[in-house]
Amino acid sequence: MRDSKKKILVSGGAGFLGSHLCDRLLEQGHDVLCVDNFFTGSKQNVNHLLANPNFELMRHDVTFPLYVEVDQIYNLACPASPVHYQFDPVQTTKTSVHGAINMLGLAKRVKARILQASTSEVYGDPEIHPQPESYFGKVNPIGIRSCYDEGKRCAETLFFDYHRQHQLDIKVIRIFNTYGPRMHPNDGRVVSNFIVQALQGKDITIYGDGQQTRSFCYVDDLIRGMISMMETEDGFTGPINIGNPGEFTMLELAELVIKLTGSKSKLVFLPKPEDDPKQRRPDIGLAKDVLKWLPNVQLEEGLKKTIDYFRATI
Ligand SMILES: NC(=O)c1ccc[n+]([C@@H]2O[C@H](COP(=O)([O-])OP(=O)(O)OC[C@H]3O[C@@H](n4cnc5c(N)ncnc54)[C@H](O)[C@@H]3O)[C@@H](O)[C@H]2O)c1
Repeated sequence: MRDSKKKILVSGGAGFLGSHLCDRLLEQGHDVLCVDNFFTGSKQNVNHLLANPNFELMRHDVTFPLYVEVDQIYNLACPASPVHYQFDPVQTTKTSVHGAINMLGLAKRVKARILQASTSEVYGDPEIHPQPESYFGKVNPIGIRSCYDEGKRCAETLFFDYHRQHQLDIKVIRIFNTYGPRMHPNDGRVVSNFIVQALQGKDITIYGDGQQTRSFCYVDDLIRGMISMMETEDGFTGPINIGNPGEFTMLELAELVIKLTGSKSKLVFLPKPEDDPKQRRPDIGLAKDVLKWLPNVQLEEGLKKTIDYFRATI
């Protein structure tokens, strides 16, 4: 029955990644129930779907229980950028932990398969590079990023305990930095930050000396990996890294954005925020083996599409 039309719940479905996931699932012919409290997401992101009879939008906070009938659940609800998750850190932890409990409880009741959108932040400031799924991470439990990092780690724990204790059909993906159209313009994430600053002719702010590296995955690649993980059989649970291993310094990214936007913006250097990891790059060997997944959008191509989006919206 897995191949036929399913009723699929996407929590956080009005956010950046969630809205692209809703697009793809509807294209595949499924019924999609998008659940969101609009903390960082917006109706704007799913406006184009509202007339689709297979799409339903529900305002709901996942820290409260939800009673609906579904076949699959993608649990994406959680603010993802430091600016937003540090705004109300207690609520951030509640969203990850109570949200996971509520979504897992729902999955148990209706016997749905459930996927958790976890994060590379579970590796913290890693001591090994690139990070394989077997690495347990180096995470500060009491810092200003901990509400997010530890919340996500606890959510993973809950997923695996529901699996062991209640035989729940779980899937866990660890998402590395992803970018693309519908990112929030003011959430402080580096790609949207640089593009918006460049398009507005403002200074491009680099934290630290700009030598810290990140890997950037284009949203279409990420969503393809997420759906293919959901469709794996034989009890495969993950966790599995999904991201693009191409590694760039912040300086390289800033220079590329300036080139592609044709901006006259200058680079300015500010102090590095607390607990900001120096390096982050996924080991995607497992995704290659199990999902036959590889990212195929190059940074320059993805940035062009993202720049076009921001040019049209800001
Ligand atoms: N984009 C990335 O690079 C990235 C990296 C790692 C992990 N992730 C994870 O992927 C998921 C989606 O991230 P995103 O980049 O789309 O961020 P986003 O902030 O655009 O989306 C999160 C969505 O969840 C909603 N939300 C927040 N709290 C909620 C609550 N209590 N109840 C219901 N809805 C709630 C928000 O309104 C928003 O629509 C998150 O769980 C995030 O942790 C994203």
